[in-house]
Amino acid sequence: MKIVCLNGSPQKNGNTAYLLDTFETTALELGATVDHVHLNSLTYKGCQACMKCKGETDACAVRDDLAPVLEVVFNADVLVLGSPIYFGEVTSQMKAFIDRTYSFLKPEFAGSRLIRGKTLVMVLPQGAPDAANFGDVYPRYAGFFKWFGYEKRYEIRGLGLNEPGDAAQRTELLETVRDIAREIVNS
Ligand SMILES: Cc1cc2nc3c(=O)[nH]c(=O)nc-3n(C[C@H](O)[C@H](O)[C@H](O)COP(=O)(O)O)c2cc1C
Repeated sequence: MKIVCLNGSPQKNGNTAYLLDTFETTALELGATVDHVHLNSLTYKGCQACMKCKGETDACAVRDDLAPVLEVVFNADVLVLGSPIYFGEVTSQMKAFIDRTYSFLKPEFAGSRLIRGKTLVMVLPQGAPDAANFGDVYPRYAGFFKWFGYEKRYEIRGLGLNEPGDAAQRTELLETVRDIAREIVNS
């Protein structure tokens, strides 16, 4: 099983990183292969609306650091998107990646270029402790990724995580992350 984890936080050792690392360690122990990408360390743009992926090519035509990442995601069985909530949304680093997945869609919105049966996990830490705040983020993106062919989808929310070391103290949350990783790799 091929897993790719994208960290959309600018912090390399923050809460998103800790939660992703917990997921990755469990998946690796169970024999999965894992690619990890820290998006903030790359130089890339969002979708340029050039529409080349809807005619000239069947992949994103923007040649920057995200091009090989899109290819890895295209071929992976499992996509793990980790992003802190910034102003009620995923970070701009993550949003720019998501916009580039427009290239996964066939022309005329005639469906997805991805093979079906993939799995999506969204890992979403936030400072606010109340689940009612920003609970709209995952369902919105899950709808688009379902359309792409991510038939199984999981949400992992980290509520009340303010300081970079907070996730490491949350045993129950970390166990949920490990449980989901086990469920996915063993399926
Ligand atoms: C620019 C900025 C905007 C933020 N906006 C929100 C927000 O709208 N709601 C919230 O609950 N937390 C917000 N936070 C807090 C982060 O989501 C939280 O600290 C998270 O755990 C950071 O994850 P990281 O350690 O992986 O970077 C914001 C933090 C920053 C720096």
